[in-house]
Amino acid sequence: MTRPDTETKRAAEVSAMFDEVSPRYDLINDVLTVGSDRLWRIATTKAVGPRKGMRILDLAAGTGTSSAALAAHGAEVVAADFSEGMLAEGRKRHAANPLIEFIWADATDLPFEDDSFDAVTISYGLRNVNDPKKALAEMFRVVKPGGRVVIAEFSTPPSSLIRAPYGAYSRHVLPRIAGVINKCAAEAYRYLNESIEAWPAQDELASWLREAGFERVAYRNLTFGVVALHRGFVPRKPQKPVATKPAAKPKPAAKPKAAAKPAAKPTTSAKPKTASAKPKAAAAKPKPAAAKPANTKPKPKPKQAPAKPSDGEKK
Ligand SMILES: C[S@@+](CC[C@H](N)C(=O)[O-])C[C@H]1O[C@@H](n2cnc3c(N)ncnc32)[C@H](O)[C@@H]1O
Repeated sequence: MTRPDTETKRAAEVSAMFDEVSPRYDLINDVLTVGSDRLWRIATTKAVGPRKGMRILDLAAGTGTSSAALAAHGAEVVAADFSEGMLAEGRKRHAANPLIEFIWADATDLPFEDDSFDAVTISYGLRNVNDPKKALAEMFRVVKPGGRVVIAEFSTPPSSLIRAPYGAYSRHVLPRIAGVINKCAAEAYRYLNESIEAWPAQDELASWLREAGFERVAYRNLTFGVVALHRGFVPRKPQKPVATKPAAKPKPAAKPKAAAKPAAKPTTSAKPKTASAKPKAAAAKPKPAAAKPANTKPKPKPKQAPAKPSDGEKK
């Protein structure tokens, strides 16, 4: 197997790599992270806050391990991925779970309606996407106002005491162990290490989320920052002002002719009925200004108090 180029991360190469490792992907993860992946998943699920009745998009869901953790709380989960191999493995494993639906989708061009999910989450997937900022814009588009995004991704341990041994382990030990379990996996885990080294640190990823339009962005380091959990919220729609009756209606002397013509109707983006049809961006959602920081964007009043960031969370 040729490993994908970390500069280009060509979709065909990345999906082919995951197709090949799919049968043993979860086993390799458990071994290489010495079981920490299970704790990271618990933290990720808690950050998403799945509940019965919620519709959640688990992007780059792979074999659906992260999706199953969300569905266990009663949420409906769309597990989307662009590796047919990972999807096939996921469908096989979770065939009996009616709450998980596996769908082929490219994170940079999602086949879903605007505002169609209560939350979106992506675990160890964003780093593999060739245009992660485009994927963030897509996540923003498909989540309802007030909904959240949660990203679990390998990151940069802030302490050099951790960074140095962790770097050596990822560079030299990790691909060897992976190769013992699955020959193809050695190359895949060499790529994994290269892609982690090229991935932005916590603060930069947080700034990408703000650029995409998310507000109340914060992150939390897990296992000394080997993994970071980022979250952000889609701003709620501005509340409509309460209509008050004017004290006295001024009587116009004579109606000018032009006034008789009704004003042009505000255009609203009509939503298609099928999940696969893609509408234009939602008209009511405040649009993110690509170059502007979040604090210059319209800040609609939240309907409820924002969730308190947990200990150790950075903004
Ligand atoms: C490391 S796996 C993570 C799988 C799963 N989220 C988990 O936590 O175990 C990364 C996944 O991202 C998927 N992926 C990478 N780029 C993608 C893209 N542009 N669109 C959809 N899926 C993508 C790969 O196919 C792969 O299944």
